[in-house]
Amino acid sequence: MKRLFITAIILCICLFGMAQNANSIIPKPAFISYPHSPEPFVLNSNQPIFYEATYELQAQYLQENIAKQTGIVLSLKKRIDLNNESAVGIYLVPIKPFNQPAEKYELNVNRQNIAIQYHDLRGLINGIQSFLQLMPIGQFNVVKISPIHIEDYPRFPYRGMHLDVVRHIFPVSYIKKYIDYLAFHKFNTFHWHLTDDQGWRIEMNAYPKLNTIGSYRNETLIGHFKESPAQYDGTRYGGFYTKAEINEIVQYAAIRAITVIPEIDIPGHSRAAIAAYPELSTKPDTIWNVATTWGMYNRQNNVLAPKPATFKFLEKVFDEVVALFPSPYIHVGGDECSKIWWKQDPATQVFMKQKGLKNETALQTYFIEFIANHLKSKGKQTIGWHEINEGDLDTSTIVMNWGTEKQAIEAASKGFNVINTPGKPFYFDHYQSLDPKDSLAIHGYNPLEAVYNYNPIPAAIIQKGLSNKIIGGQANVWTEYMGNEKKVDYMIFPRMTALSETLWSIPEKKNYVDFLKRIEQTAIPRYLFWNSSWFKDYAKWDLSKLPK
Ligand code: ACM
Repeated sequence: MKRLFITAIILCICLFGMAQNANSIIPKPAFISYPHSPEPFVLNSNQPIFYEATYELQAQYLQENIAKQTGIVLSLKKRIDLNNESAVGIYLVPIKPFNQPAEKYELNVNRQNIAIQYHDLRGLINGIQSFLQLMPIGQFNVVKISPIHIEDYPRFPYRGMHLDVVRHIFPVSYIKKYIDYLAFHKFNTFHWHLTDDQGWRIEMNAYPKLNTIGSYRNETLIGHFKESPAQYDGTRYGGFYTKAEINEIVQYAAIRAITVIPEIDIPGHSRAAIAAYPELSTKPDTIWNVATTWGMYNRQNNVLAPKPATFKFLEKVFDEVVALFPSPYIHVGGDECSKIWWKQDPATQVFMKQKGLKNETALQTYFIEFIANHLKSKGKQTIGWHEINEGDLDTSTIVMNWGTEKQAIEAASKGFNVINTPGKPFYFDHYQSLDPKDSLAIHGYNPLEAVYNYNPIPAAIIQKGLSNKIIGGQANVWTEYMGNEKKVDYMIFPRMTALSETLWSIPEKKNYVDFLKRIEQTAIPRYLFWNSSWFKDYAKWDLSKLPK
């Protein structure tokens, strides 16, 4: 009996949770203060979440996540009359006045209630994330939350993570999990790389062979692509996302205030397309295979040829893409388009002469302008990799720089808005250690500290007064050497966690030593909660290990 009594007491204690300290939130909020009142709010399942009708789905999202994370199931109540205001609970309410920074939220906790106040949908989601980070992980009956006041908004309007689903494809369940990773870290954009030389991963009605042929490769390279002789696994590989699956993912992301930007990579990186429709290539009589190797630039023909059938193809493909994605932006690739295939093709040369295009760079610009104008007529803005700026392109497109600072400076100086995703340090397919036993990756060293300390606005841009031309940043996750979900997790964590703070918090708020502490307090328990893997030696491989 006595033992039972003691067990009951221990059980009671176990079910009593304490909120995390707000200092452990990632990314670091703009302002945190601690009200004088020491009395905590005590959360329990008798309390409702009060919400405005517009944001019912977000209220459900909060409810579900509190339940998953703590075991406490709150009820939901629409705020139809203000008499409810005195009831104990969690309030989701707009900030007044409305002229506040985009994505801003305030989180106020006092003894009586919790208020997540938001400027807009993204502000609400950001506030929900900070609140969920304060919540402990476990099974509780009640959680005590100390009074707190947070005011917070991001440094950059564009905060993205990219994922290549061509080199390896991942199930819808993982795409959703990845979107959850983004939401947790207050990113607002998922850049979905859907087509490339090694596969076409989006269902298309007007051109069905893009799926029956273009979505599958005969086999896949084993090991690093620079190894010789090349070896292949002999296994057919592929797949694509149906339109129904894409709709499901876009809606899932929208609830979490994440914009999904699709990328259809043209006019290079188009081997899967010309394998399906050789008539769109510079050699229509050739049987092209979907690429089975990596690093295609210049080594194999993968370009679209400029001809009426190709431009019709582009219009129809992008029309189907536009119909699927509500995003105001569509990414058209434009990178690494080797000019040699156009140089060698007499028909392409005739086309260039007819159009008065003085060289192949001008032809590349012609392609990008063609599709950018078409997208503009559908109300969409075009994003392309920085090579779209090689010619004389008008500056209404957005340049996504994957090079060095040089290309970002060039584009910003010409008047482009720039999303900065420099290979160093924002390519998460590069090694995060110099350990020769580390899991296979692209050569290059992008350790956590480099990601954390990188300023997406290069000094030369600040000096030129062009800082507002850098609208944000992103990390790119090319999956040649990421054949499964665990490997993607290993490559992105904890670097993605560092990137979230690099893009959200002003430099004055950042501190790497403090960040390392918060990885332990906040990030690692989450990786475990998500059953994700991560690179465990992150603290050891810092910038002092950079090769001289
Ligand atoms: C790229 O890495 N070619 C965008």
